[in-house]
Amino acid sequence: MNDIIVLSIESSCDETSCAVIKNGNEVLANIVSSQINIHQKFGGVVPEVASRHHVGNITLVIDEAIKEANIDVKDITCVAVTQGPGLIGSLLVGINAAKAFSFAHNLPLIGVHHIAGHIYANHLVQNLEFPLLALVVSGGHTEIIHMTSHLSYEVIGKTRDDAVGEAYDKVARVCKLPYPGGPHIDKLAASGKDIYLLPRVMLDQDNFDFSFSGLKSAVINLVHNAKQRNEEISIPDLARSFQESVVDILVGKTLKAVEKYPVKQLLVAGGVAANSGLRNRLNEEIKHYPHLKLIIPPLKYCTDNAAMIGVCGTFSYLKGERSDLSLNGYANLDLK
Ligand code: KG4
Ligand code: ZN
Repeated sequence: MNDIIVLSIESSCDETSCAVIKNGNEVLANIVSSQINIHQKFGGVVPEVASRHHVGNITLVIDEAIKEANIDVKDITCVAVTQGPGLIGSLLVGINAAKAFSFAHNLPLIGVHHIAGHIYANHLVQNLEFPLLALVVSGGHTEIIHMTSHLSYEVIGKTRDDAVGEAYDKVARVCKLPYPGGPHIDKLAASGKDIYLLPRVMLDQDNFDFSFSGLKSAVINLVHNAKQRNEEISIPDLARSFQESVVDILVGKTLKAVEKYPVKQLLVAGGVAANSGLRNRLNEEIKHYPHLKLIIPPLKYCTDNAAMIGVCGTFSYLKGERSDLSLNGYANLDLK
């Protein structure tokens, strides 16, 4: 059988990325151009600024990926691109580049769901085996997903308000840490102590849903109250206390799901999968489930990247899914 070589593009937020994936699990190239430095001075992603930078970077990352993969354009089987969810202007830059490339080289075009991509990043570590559960933790999503076969997703629990990454970023902001706050809180938490009493919202409820806005508000109130009273807050201790609460909730709910759904694998997906507290706790807890395999992608495949889109795109291609030049971007898009 011929090799399946997917050229994939991801531009849903503030990373412009192009990858070349061989047979669904070999990364021949994964070029990621991050705009973090540009958005840092605004304290968050400015959508219009992000779109403009994607326009400036997109052809550069595509050229670089092809060069690094050391392939000829005629070796490419199809083009996969993030269709949503994400910032609409940013998505459209990647989608239009993918359309142009597929049209110019007469290649099939495949739209990929961003969260499906995050889940399929795990396939770069180990072949997915079903049934499985995926804990999706990103800047915009917090979900537990049950999968019984490739490309079929059942969302069994999700956040009712903020996503966990969003809570990290907002807590970081009140602590005057740079955007994106997750990695900074994570780093500080390592040297802090869990001394501030913070809520574990919905942890004892008998469902797989999450809520992070109460926890976020509790941290913000703690900082504001201390300021009014002229009291000193230890940021490392607050970071640690916040992270302990987040990890208790995420791991607690995930283990509840593992008890109910007899699965072979537990995957972790999305930017917050890079969190050391979460990784460590899951690695400990999984020891109590000898039949369950925990998979967490390496850090570079946790945050946004095109490699994950190429992996998912490979499975969509094999299933016969095709998009055409009417492919559109969607700021909100359900995982079907
Ligand atoms: O998946 P991602 O790159 O983009 C979205 O699809 O949203 O996730 C970005 C989120 C940000 O909120 C960022 O603060 C968070 O992932 N993040 C982390 C860590 N690294 C990235 N959160 C906690 N700990 C980390 N080490
Ligand atoms: Zn993402």
